[in-house]
Order: sequence, then C-alpha cells, then structure tokens
Amino acid sequence: MAEEKKLLKVTIDNITVEVEPGTSILQAARKIGGDVAPPAMCYYSKLKGTGGKCRTCLVEVAAGSTADPRPMPKLVASCRTNVMDGMVVKNITSEKVIDARNGVVEMLLINHPLDCPICDQAGECHLQDLSYENGRPGTRYEFARRTFEKHDLGPYIQLHMTRCILCYRCVFTADQLTNKRVHGVLDRGDHSEIATYIHQSLDNDFIGNIIDVCPVGALTDKTFRFKNRVWFLKPVDAHRDCNHPGCKGKVTLWYRGDEVFRVTARKDQWGEVEDWICNECRFEKKKTSDWTIEGPTKVSRHSVISQGHYVGVQRPQEVLYDVLDGRKPKLLMDIHSVSEVNRPDIDLSKIEGPAHSTDFKND
Ligand code: SF4
Ligand code: FES
Repeated sequence: MAEEKKLLKVTIDNITVEVEPGTSILQAARKIGGDVAPPAMCYYSKLKGTGGKCRTCLVEVAAGSTADPRPMPKLVASCRTNVMDGMVVKNITSEKVIDARNGVVEMLLINHPLDCPICDQAGECHLQDLSYENGRPGTRYEFARRTFEKHDLGPYIQLHMTRCILCYRCVFTADQLTNKRVHGVLDRGDHSEIATYIHQSLDNDFIGNIIDVCPVGALTDKTFRFKNRVWFLKPVDAHRDCNHPGCKGKVTLWYRGDEVFRVTARKDQWGEVEDWICNECRFEKKKTSDWTIEGPTKVSRHSVISQGHYVGVQRPQEVLYDVLDGRKPKLLMDIHSVSEVNRPDIDLSKIEGPAHSTDFKND
C-alpha cells in the first residue's frame, strides 16, 4: 500500500491550512483564497520555472517551522518559497509586506505608461488592479522613461514593449508550448527587452497563448486591438471539436450584440489559462456557428467586466425631462467648433494666470 504523505500545517494571516510537502507559500495561500493570496505578476502555475521575477508576491515569514520557529530575516517571494510544517506567514496582516508591495508597484510603474484609457488590456490588467490597491497617487520619478516602437510579431500579435514588465511568462509559454521559440529577453538590466532580435514573425500554432499570459497590455491581439472595451463585452463559454493536438477547443467568446469580437482561452479565478488553445480557435473562428455555446462565463463580481451584467439591475431614475420641464433635451453640438467664445486657436498654457473672457474675445 502506498505510504500516505504527511501533510504540512501552515498558518497564513491567522488561517491554518494543510498542504502537501513541496507546496509553495503562494499555492497554500491560494488554497485559502481571497485577499490572503498574494498578487502574482510573473508566477504562472501552468508554466514550469515561472516566478521569482516581479517580487509582488513578497510575504513575511514570522516563524520558519515548528522545528526552527525563528522568523526569516527578510521578506520572501512566496511563489518560490516552500511551506515548512508549523510555518507562520503574514501577508495582508504585515505592514512590512504592504510597504514593500507599494514599493514594488512603484518600481513596476517607473517605465510602464499610464495609458489605461487607450490600452486593450484595461479592465483585465493585473498591474492596473495592483496599482489601484498598492499604488501611489503620484510619481517620484523624474528621469526619462524607456519607450519603444510597437512591433508586429506576425499577423496576429503586436508587441508594445513600453508596457512590458519583463515577467518572462511569454518566454516560458513559447518555450513550453511551441517547438521553436523565436522571441526572448534581449540585453541586460535596464536595457532588457522582449524581442525577436531581427524582426521575425511568431507563427507557431499555439503562439497566441502569449497574449493570454501577458499580465499587462504588452502583447495584444491584432484582430481585437481598439475594437472594443472588455467591459462592454459579454463573455460566453463555448467549445468546438478542434483537430489540433493539444487544443481542447474550450474557449470564451466575447460578444457585443451578436458579434464575436474576440476569442480567448478560459481563465481561472487567478487569471490563469485553464486549457491552452490553438491559433485557429483564437483568431479564425469568430462566428457563433463555429461553436457550441455552453452559457455565460462566470465573472468575479469584483471585476469591471461584470459591470452591466447584473440581472434586475436598478438604474437611476432619468430626471432630465423633469429638470427641463417636460421638454426634450437638445442634441449636443461640437461646442468647440461652433462657439464664438471657446476659440480652439487659443493656447491656454500660454496665458498668464486664469483665462478671462477677454482672452477669447473675437475681434
Ligand atoms: S511581454 Fe508580457 S508576458 Fe512577455 S515578459 Fe513582457 S509583460 Fe511578461
Ligand atoms: S509572482 Fe512571485 S516573484 Fe513574481
């Protein structure tokens, strides 16, 4: 009879769980769930070797184990540190961790542009969420930021390196899912960048998965870019019989009205792909008739994507008619071009002090 493995007890934020030997603190915390699970920008449980790059998952180990209950001297990366029996860990209950995480987010945002209003990843960007939870209201950075030209990585994927946080997930994905990796991290330190060296196209059948693993908007789907905002779309689970070995054909279709705007792999509660999908499913099957629909995708109530999808939502009462005494509001015009007051040729930044009507006088 196979010998039963002795489970290890670990206490994270005052909650105790039992896990198998070899489990990382991050995985143990995910077993508890909720805010106890540290954020992870580079670790990806479906990819071997990931983690240890971004430091967003730092935690405090207040007691190393029952055998040696001394605290660990420094914060540790929870994705790369395994649980010991009797270990006591602090995540959200540690001021040191919160302070360090704020610092990590500030560091990640040094070069990352705050272009969420025009970024396709907005609404499902892990860095965006992290900056809301741990970011500073302003920047202290006074130097020039790194910027890069956008690169087309073949017909389906665009790389906007300026947004990359060098988490290496896309590199591991290409290594482990395709037979020949074409892109990687070039150069070192502050010069590091994701590139194909001499502009090459990534055209492996499974390369589209690098879009799904990218935690920010550095790798985007060219068939979807700028077409819609994710929170206007309705995600629906669907499947098809796919002939590609390794693709189960299980996807999420993103609808607006009757139109499928994009197809992605299904993701779990940690934002990780459940089953990898091939390029054909992702980029070339955008008709409802290509798929067997299963039903609406479960979306966390905390996600911006769930907004507008509540059943029986109470909308605020429309009061404009009452305010206008029963009259219909007039159509809005482009005030800028028709106004005699608001002249577009006036540069407000060149006016000393506050602007007055005399500054706009049309004579
Ligand atoms: S492109 Fe995206 S997935 Fe690849 S290293 Fe940069 S942030 Fe990570
Ligand atoms: S998730 Fe642990 S270091 Fe990035």
